[in-house]
Amino acid sequence: MAAAEHLYLHVPFCGHRCGYCDFVTVTGSGELHGRYVDALIRELRGAPARPATIFVGGGTPSLLDDALLARLLAALPACDELTVECNPETITPAKAQVLVEGGVTRVSLGAQSFQPQLLATLERRATPDRVVQAVATLRRAGVTNLNLDLMFGVPGQTPHDLAADLDQASSLEPEHISYYELEAKPGTRFTHRHGAELERQAEALEDHYETVVATLRERGYHWYETANFCREGRQARHNLGYWEGRDYLGLGVGAVSTIGLERRRNRPSLRAYLDAVEAGQAPPAEIELLSPAERGSERLMLGLRLDRPMPLDGLEWLIDPRQLERMAGAGMLAREPGGIRLSERGRFMANDVVSTLLR
Ligand SMILES: C[S@@+](CC[C@H](N)C(=O)[O-])C[C@H]1O[C@@H](n2cnc3c(N)ncnc32)[C@H](O)[C@@H]1O
Ligand code: SF4
Repeated sequence: MAAAEHLYLHVPFCGHRCGYCDFVTVTGSGELHGRYVDALIRELRGAPARPATIFVGGGTPSLLDDALLARLLAALPACDELTVECNPETITPAKAQVLVEGGVTRVSLGAQSFQPQLLATLERRATPDRVVQAVATLRRAGVTNLNLDLMFGVPGQTPHDLAADLDQASSLEPEHISYYELEAKPGTRFTHRHGAELERQAEALEDHYETVVATLRERGYHWYETANFCREGRQARHNLGYWEGRDYLGLGVGAVSTIGLERRRNRPSLRAYLDAVEAGQAPPAEIELLSPAERGSERLMLGLRLDRPMPLDGLEWLIDPRQLERMAGAGMLAREPGGIRLSERGRFMANDVVSTLLR
């Protein structure tokens, strides 16, 4: 595959599989951590020498023991932004030091909520105190760019719980907040148990979303992507690359790459991944050739999530001009010199607006 500016490394290991999660994860298997890191390092030989950004995600990369994590970080090429995804219960002073000394410029911490009963529903291992402690430990070690992942729409969550989460999250002063609506992923334990309740609360979620946006804005965060908020200049550069439709290379089990019109999805089997890479072969993968219409539609879907005009540069043919007129007339979007931009109302319904626009 040709060079990409953005590099993603997947570390699938988790201490526990949370019921709502459908990422490629593996619990237990501690004896495979070392082999896995070696395989990633081997795969890195084919990676660009100087990517703009690197994101080490999971799974739980911070579950790797300190020496292994240090080894992985030392093998990464230089870049402008290096993010590592961490779970609060894995953060110790020594781990935080490994991150900082390993050149990590941004830590993304999965808080999800600060309400003990909601964390229990989510089957999270960290208590609210543990989340607060992890933030303090990371700050003391010198982490100056911190993201908190949070979720709204957890079954049983009241408006009071949401306000308390917003207060607690903003009092920790992270530079960035990703606030996701909890999705019922097909086939997960969570959907089986709580799917009906999630459907019943769909309307309340619209209010929750509006509360999240209004509160974080009041507290000085920019709502720069439908689920993402940041202090001035603290956008996630890696994620921006993805939303701007740039090429990215994914390494590791289950990782996805998009280079031009080729989409490569590494298969989710850890054993098959290890066997192939250790034998000097490419990881087993499914390769899909995207049509220009598919790739262009994806670019529109992602680019319109951002709070800036989306340049159409040759994508006009994918848009239905009558729907564009209609949506502009309904105040959902505006045509601007740099492209089209969703209005405030349009951004709350981004998925619906964009799918209506596409031919
Ligand atoms: C790769 S995941 C998990 C990272 C890390 N292991 C953790 O648990 O915090 C990144 C983020 O996706 C979000 N996420 C995971 N499953 C989700 C779901 N079903 N609906 C909405 N957001 C989800 C969570 O906020 C999570 O922190
Ligand atoms: S949410 Fe995080 S910790 Fe939980 S299973 Fe998914 S990746 Fe692992």
